[in-house]
Amino acid sequence: MSESSFPGAAILDIIPEVQYLPSWLPGMEFKVYAQNCVRLVTEMTTAPFEFVKSNMALGLGKRCISSELLERLPPHEGTHPLEEIIKGVAGVGYNAGADATVSAIEMVLLAMVLYPDDRMSLPYVEAVCREALRWGVVTPLSVAHATTEPDVYNGYFVPKGATIIMNTWVVHMDERVYKEAGLQRSGSTKKRVYKDPYEFKPERFLNNDGTISDEYPLTAFGLGRRICPGRHFADAAIWIVVASVLACFDISKATDENGQEIVPSVKYTDGLVRRVSRQIC
Ligand code: HEM
Repeated sequence: MSESSFPGAAILDIIPEVQYLPSWLPGMEFKVYAQNCVRLVTEMTTAPFEFVKSNMALGLGKRCISSELLERLPPHEGTHPLEEIIKGVAGVGYNAGADATVSAIEMVLLAMVLYPDDRMSLPYVEAVCREALRWGVVTPLSVAHATTEPDVYNGYFVPKGATIIMNTWVVHMDERVYKEAGLQRSGSTKKRVYKDPYEFKPERFLNNDGTISDEYPLTAFGLGRRICPGRHFADAAIWIVVASVLACFDISKATDENGQEIVPSVKYTDGLVRRVSRQIC
């Protein structure tokens, strides 16, 4: 999904007619790729769903979204037509959330390796999670939208059906927001502000009294009507993993044969979901 769902990922997005050309022509590799994806997506949604159904038939297994929705179906001869929808709900939730949530957790672990000084901030797990979502920018260009009506924005005409790409990367790394360092007066109090948007500083998300601050823009989950419906689930999953890992493990850099710390050269993957590249994980 991450590789292929962004507009322009395949030539098909620009010239839809190429779908009618045979797959043996040069440049048509996307057709074989798409066939493999269909197989993977079918397996991804069907295997867990059938597992839940067979567990339910045996009276085993934990309750989950699929089992609860299946239980609500009225008696029906053969397969109920809504079963496909239920399978789709669980499948799309898994597909949309698994990679992104794991990426956000990886970003916390990476930040702990690169910025060990921030260990003092560990009681502020919430701030660590928020800063990882900001600094790690898991979905840098969000998910593409399309206009349903023509519009005018800042003097620009936007036709109906135009692809709209939200640049979360720029929002999170906006140097106009992170422009000054030092103490800044906010009402009657002074608050420390941090300059470099590329620096991992959980304190950005804390008020002086240790409570969470919503001062900095965080659009990791998108905006508007299509905002990520899994954001509360993701928040809870990231929080509990981060809190557990930080409580149980010391995270530090690996050392070479001379005992010198190895500073990882960090690379990230391209795609809808940005992940820490495998080489350094
Ligand atoms: C760190 C974890 C996650 C991040 C950063 C993330 C980010 C996003 C973003 C940026 C969008 C596009 C929002 C927009 O169009 O404005 C989105 C959409 C979506 N997300 Fe997430 N997400 C995460 C986890 C999850 C989880 C755990 C689930 C499911 C349980 C999920 C399900 C979805 C679905 C179904 C959509 C499409 C919504 C629509 O188009 O109406 N996401 N997500």
